[in-house]
Amino acid sequence: MKDGLPSLDPGLRARVLALTEGEDDPIALMATVACEVHHSDERFDWTGFYRVVAPDLLKIGPYQGGHGCLVIPFSKGVCGACATTGEAQLVPDVEAFPGHIACASSTRSELVLPVKNAGGELIAVFDIDSDQPDAFTPEDAAELAAILDAVFGSRP
Ligand code: SME
Repeated sequence: MKDGLPSLDPGLRARVLALTEGEDDPIALMATVACEVHHSDERFDWTGFYRVVAPDLLKIGPYQGGHGCLVIPFSKGVCGACATTGEAQLVPDVEAFPGHIACASSTRSELVLPVKNAGGELIAVFDIDSDQPDAFTPEDAAELAAILDAVFGSRP
């Protein structure tokens, strides 16, 4: 726990795995993960996926929260930085991140994680936005990455 921030719900991973067992459709999986993660934590104000639909292009996927931008090139924003590098982006202050795309002006901090399939191919990024500054911890990032790997890393 950092500065009184809550930890992720310890039951989240088991719940997501139970709900997604036996399913291979990526959109069904993304919808279920977005819903479960979003409603598991009051820090999360927008939770969803941007899918890789062409080289260097992300398009909105299943999400929870207010409407998100529909299209994000790899060259733009925190999501683009995650897609370009293949690395998690933990942004404590979105205003200090050059090129941040403000889909909602209330967003203060953001965590974006790469989503890879069984072949190691980047199929999407998973974006969580918070209206609280510095809302995410490295522990959140590690546990969410483990959940994404358990759900998408063993599927086509
Ligand atoms: N803030 C993101 C864009 C997506 S939305 O916030 C839903 C970014 O800079 O990549």
